[in-house]
Amino acid sequence: MEKDLAKLEQIARKLEPSAKERKNIRNKVVAYTEKFINKIEHSNAFNFTAEKGAAILNHPISEKGIGIKKALEIIKNNVDYPGLNPASGGHLGYIPGGGIYYSALGDYMADITNRYAGIFFAGPGAVRMENMLVQWIAQLMGYPKNTAGNLTSGGSIANLIAICTARDAKKITASKIKSSVIYLTEQAHHSVQKAIRIAGLGECALRYVPVDKNYKMNITELQKQIAADKKNKLNPFLIIASAGTTDVGAIDPLADIGTIAKKEKLWYHIDAAYGGFFILTAEGKKKLRGIELSDSLTIDPHKGLFLPYGLGVVLVKNKAQLNATHFYQANYMQDALSATDELSPADLSPELTKHFRGMRLWLPLQLHGLKPFKACVEEKLLLAKYFHKKIKALGFVSEIEPELSVVVYRYPFKKGDANLLNKKLVEAVQKDGRIFISSTMLNGKYTLRFACLAFRTHKKTVDTLLRVISKELQKIK
Ligand SMILES: Cc1ncc(COP(=O)(O)O)c(C=O)c1O
Repeated sequence: MEKDLAKLEQIARKLEPSAKERKNIRNKVVAYTEKFINKIEHSNAFNFTAEKGAAILNHPISEKGIGIKKALEIIKNNVDYPGLNPASGGHLGYIPGGGIYYSALGDYMADITNRYAGIFFAGPGAVRMENMLVQWIAQLMGYPKNTAGNLTSGGSIANLIAICTARDAKKITASKIKSSVIYLTEQAHHSVQKAIRIAGLGECALRYVPVDKNYKMNITELQKQIAADKKNKLNPFLIIASAGTTDVGAIDPLADIGTIAKKEKLWYHIDAAYGGFFILTAEGKKKLRGIELSDSLTIDPHKGLFLPYGLGVVLVKNKAQLNATHFYQANYMQDALSATDELSPADLSPELTKHFRGMRLWLPLQLHGLKPFKACVEEKLLLAKYFHKKIKALGFVSEIEPELSVVVYRYPFKKGDANLLNKKLVEAVQKDGRIFISSTMLNGKYTLRFACLAFRTHKKTVDTLLRVISKELQKIK
């Protein structure tokens, strides 16, 4: 047995590279990432390739490793080249963010030390860091001191946690599902519908409250619908509002909805995944008034704080309910019960073992301080206004004033199918590659979107987009 152990150890020790080996690999990885960052200003935001990274399949996992040179070459050609480049300032589609550098260093440290931030007993400092960040965001949003929350992998899971908590708080057990009602608008992000279904609430009545011309929830219609449902002996229990819709960036009338939710005793969830961090600006703070009235809130640091993908936040005022929905005890976890100074993230989310996500937020906030983050979100608000003015000057129709940093616009082609021609324009801009824009359908009309939230997007980037659009438009017109 000893012989076998020695033999296995000798091979297994390959997983513990020496300082020299680490340095060699690390230097090459750092050189690769440095080159990536140093070139980013001139790298395309989108690259179309015929094979779409398929060559990755030519390198199956095998018994023997490949060298770092080969590994980086595979990554460069097949992962970091084809498709969307979300780190680029030219990413002006969907909802970007970018991925600030110090977050990567936070992840690096979290991965090396592999601190466990799930249970306070095991990682007291790590859990305190995550809980402190939750409290900091709660305070920013005007939530009370006693708020609980969780650092999730993104907005989708944050919405799911909130909706499960609402379900339990309002005691929507199996027999009540079919008679229970949820209010939202067609503009709610699809992760909300997904969460409703995953939470077992797919058979609830979903009331899509009509929106006004700016795509905001019409509160008169909301009130009417709640009253009608109550009259019909249904069980309204949840309103889901958006603070920054993905399509157009609209903020529902948060304060008015809060008043209705309170009066009708409904759980009030706000999806502020995109819009939440605009609260760092004076304009955003005004526009987000009423956000503090919600019972639960989703906010995405991998959008509004420009972190690399992988960090959302859910806040819930009713700490006991968030805990009750997600807590579970097992014999093999009994040692953890000796340290309960802080709530453990594992008791506030579906996850037990999880990535120590706090570091990727804490480190950049501590190193930069808040000032550049505030300036960066404010810059995005202003860039949206700038783009809105300029795109209209090019003859585009853009009826909605940008509420946050999304602008929707389309060209009123006089001849031909306007939907098809606008689609052609988006495809031409995407093919050009320097800037990536995306599209949506609004009232059946194919619409172009300018979604500005990548930290590397500045006036120069927007001017490039305007030039590309103008050039491609001339070819299509
Ligand atoms: C308004 C809104 N809610 C929720 C989400 C889902 O967040 P995530 O992609 O982080 O899961 C998004 C994503 O773009 C969003 O824009």
